Amino acid sequence: MLEQIESTTKSICDETKNFKPEIGIILGTGLGGLVNEITVAYALPYNEIPNFPVSTVQGHSGKLIFGELGGKKVVAMQGRFHFYEGYSMQQVTFPVRVMKALGVKTLIVSNASGGMNPTFQVGEIMIINDHINLFPTNPLIGKNIEQLGPRFPDMSEAYKKSYVELGKQIAKENNIKVSEGVYAGLSGPCFETPAEYRYIWRIGADVVGMSTVPEVMVAKHSGMDCFGISIVTDLGVEGVVQNVSHEEVQHIARGQEPKMSLIVKEFIRRI
Ligand code: HPA
Repeated sequence: MLEQIESTTKSICDETKNFKPEIGIILGTGLGGLVNEITVAYALPYNEIPNFPVSTVQGHSGKLIFGELGGKKVVAMQGRFHFYEGYSMQQVTFPVRVMKALGVKTLIVSNASGGMNPTFQVGEIMIINDHINLFPTNPLIGKNIEQLGPRFPDMSEAYKKSYVELGKQIAKENNIKVSEGVYAGLSGPCFETPAEYRYIWRIGADVVGMSTVPEVMVAKHSGMDCFGISIVTDLGVEGVVQNVSHEEVQHIARGQEPKMSLIVKEFIRRI
């Protein structure tokens, strides 16, 4: 893996004339529009980056965007890789390894989620303050590569506390209602049964989704600080579990994009 990270990083550095981003962003559901706010210097299609996973969706290769946002140099993934698509955990998290090798110190992630917390509403924006890994595996399983990080990474502050506070502060200043809470990540692709939502709520999560946790585990392993933000697109609240579709998830998330983008842009400006 080390050789792959090194050769990919070298190729990217050649393409981008040694552009050195300090912030990495995974533009998940709800942050897609943020790309329009980036002053783009380079946009590399995933299928032109050596060792990057090959997209399973025809015509949707995704891009790695290099540019400036909120006065800082950023690298943003336009399109992420999900475990349910059939990628290994190492493939899902490979871009995070490359971001680290490029010099990224802070990782920002967004996602859509189902909300189990009964105080949450559809459209709720939740700043992630912790997570529970319910994926059947972990990207760090296997021989540890000491150059990348420790065998047993500390996860006591997976989402940096001062970032959570900053996110809440920015939301307050802009009259945007946000909550904070715990994100449970699991494989998907099925949405949850009512019994599963009940179970996930009872073990301590406020929302559930199919991403983010692998990337944050690898980011922490490599010594980055993380900020995560989730849009509740449907409810898994006991007694009111609704029918949910991918289209509905996208629709709800799109409606909240301007608020999400504002928070993240301002967040970048201030860190
Ligand atoms: N469950 C899992 N993932 C999701 C959900 C959900 O209810 N909504 C959006 N992503």
